Amino acid sequence: MGYNNIKFAEDALFLVTGGAGFIGSNLCEALLNMGYQVRCLDNLSTGRQEHVDLFSSNANYTFIKGDITDLSTCMEACKDVDYVLHQAAWGSVPRSIEMPLYYEEVNIRGTLHMMEAARQNHVKKFIYASSSSVYGDHPVLPKTEGQEGNLLSPYALTKRADEEYAKLYFKLYNLDTYGLRYFNVFGRRQDPNGAYAAVIPKFLKLLLNDERPTIHGDGRQSRDFTYIENVIEANLKACKAPHEAAGQAYNIAFGGREYLIDLYYQMCEILGKKIDPVFGPKRTGDIKHSNADISKAKRLLGYHPEYDFERGLKEAVDWYRKNL
Ligand SMILES: NC(=O)c1ccc[n+]([C@@H]2O[C@H](COP(=O)([O-])OP(=O)(O)OC[C@H]3O[C@@H](n4cnc5c(N)ncnc54)[C@H](O)[C@@H]3O)[C@@H](O)[C@H]2O)c1
Repeated sequence: MGYNNIKFAEDALFLVTGGAGFIGSNLCEALLNMGYQVRCLDNLSTGRQEHVDLFSSNANYTFIKGDITDLSTCMEACKDVDYVLHQAAWGSVPRSIEMPLYYEEVNIRGTLHMMEAARQNHVKKFIYASSSSVYGDHPVLPKTEGQEGNLLSPYALTKRADEEYAKLYFKLYNLDTYGLRYFNVFGRRQDPNGAYAAVIPKFLKLLLNDERPTIHGDGRQSRDFTYIENVIEANLKACKAPHEAAGQAYNIAFGGREYLIDLYYQMCEILGKKIDPVFGPKRTGDIKHSNADISKAKRLLGYHPEYDFERGLKEAVDWYRKNL
């Protein structure tokens, strides 16, 4: 269980792209706490300088301010690297519908640059962030690898394209690639601000300020909310996964399902607030229900998530209480 007893070579070097963002900064922190060397590559577009400053006094941490759309930056960043944890991308389904060209450039071309740089620098493992959005409109629950429907957004298309390239890089060039299809990740340092913020930090911030959050639709949509600690575990387990498990994508979630309206009232209860939400129009590109079958990741990566939704939510609420 967990990841603290996973061991790498003492001098192992990890490259975390998007390391100034939510998931990336948590990966940097976990690896530094375990005593490994971490190089972070980020252009600080949606990531934050303060997530770099957190670690800048640690001798095992280096930061490259650079863009994955530039191949030479990716080549430089991959030098002498053992493991790449590629998180850099633009997130948000609705934003991708507004600016598809930009998503194609960063999420597809940028990821291809990273794979190419990893291949040319002979990295051991290339782990990358995919997304539950690749399931598109496939109605069956739980979502199972191999049963994908029609895509509903440019964002989802970029992640599916990344998976196809990763499959090819494994087949053609023997690069060990592992795609992690994250399902609604939440936890410390996730950005609560802006129109494209994820629902948990956004609602927590509003509730802490005694403001009324807007729920898009009727609140009866459901998600497999996944605490950040489980995502860290998945990344580290993928670094240790066998060659035979490469060239594939894996659901990374807890394997539960929460209705948005229930999540809302749980947050109110933990915070001791009595505030009713506002109900707004449904968002285009959103799916109604999402819940992951995580048996493939359990079987092939040895992924056994420790944090169920309630435990994760309590930790997240504690963090936002202290840090907002
Ligand atoms: N948070 C979730 O629930 C979730 C769900 C599914 C998939 N994902 C994927 O996980 C990854 C991390 O997401 P996150 O929630 O931490 O988002 P985030 O926005 O907090 O982090 C992304 C990071 O990538 C950086 N970045 C963006 N474009 C870049 C570029 N061209 N060059 C270098 N750096 C760049 C940003 O500055 C940011 O620090 C992304 O690939 C995202 O698509 C996240």
